[in-house]
Amino acid sequence: MTHAPHSSSAAPILRVRGVRKHFTLHLRDGRDLPVLHGVDLDAAPGECVALVGASGKGKSTLIKCLYGNYGVDAGSILLRTDGTARGEIDIAQATPQQVIGLRQRAIAYVSQFLRAVPRVPAIDVVAERLLQANPVTADLGQAGAWEAAQDAAREEVAALFERLNLPRALWQLPPATFSGGEQQRVNIARGFILPSDLLLLDEPTASLDAANRRVVMQLIQEAKARGTAVIGIFHDEEVRDAVATRCVTLPSAANELETTR
Ligand SMILES: Nc1ncnc2c1ncn2[C@@H]1O[C@H](COP(=O)(O)OP(=O)(O)OP(=O)(O)O)[C@@H](O)[C@H]1O
Ligand SMILES: [Mg+2]
Repeated sequence: MTHAPHSSSAAPILRVRGVRKHFTLHLRDGRDLPVLHGVDLDAAPGECVALVGASGKGKSTLIKCLYGNYGVDAGSILLRTDGTARGEIDIAQATPQQVIGLRQRAIAYVSQFLRAVPRVPAIDVVAERLLQANPVTADLGQAGAWEAAQDAAREEVAALFERLNLPRALWQLPPATFSGGEQQRVNIARGFILPSDLLLLDEPTASLDAANRRVVMQLIQEAKARGTAVIGIFHDEEVRDAVATRCVTLPSAANELETTR
């Protein structure tokens, strides 16, 4: 299934060219497992590109490369950071400090599994993202400045938790013991609480019931309407059909050989 691009006139904010990646399997005598075989991919503001392909083809691996979690063997991952080609940064070559900077505002990622700092309440797991992106500018010594910023951030998170039907009784608890769907909603809240230029979604609705799936579909549509470029993996075809503006299949090793012959 291929849809027409949503905003074909907009210049891509992300340009991925020739990305290759393999893993070395140390537990199997150091054998190489080639996973990404020359990926080219563009994403423009306001569009949602769905990555499709069989299990194990490298969809999650590509998302992690785009987020700067994994280095690549070859290729470039160019992200426009100030609306011009001059402000382009190659995530494949970025320093860890640059990657951290990009993650504060420009790139958001909803992974399939929540990895949160232990003992931090769910509401603060999400509020922290707001506070990091908007550092308190008032003198921290000024009475109550930090607390006021924290209260404002928590209020914003509470509104999103309400929307995601996360039971109020859980907000002050650390998410470690939450159910799969509850953890996923905390994860989704972290990904959506701030507008970002690029939003990476790895099966964001996998453990959700129908009502919450609908909320997430709405959140994705709102992000697109704000001009976010979304790249996602959606095994649920109903979700994919509702949100994706086009689908991209990752090239396999055989395809690559065909094109280079
Ligand atoms: N950290 C890693 N170390 C070694 N091999 C890995 C690693 N991560 C992924 N792989 C392997 O790379 C291949 C691609 O994995 P990936 O998780 O990207 O697939 P996927 O397309 O997302 O699959 P699914 O649809 O099942 O989620 C798989 O064969 C997997 O076993
Ligand atoms: Mg995957």
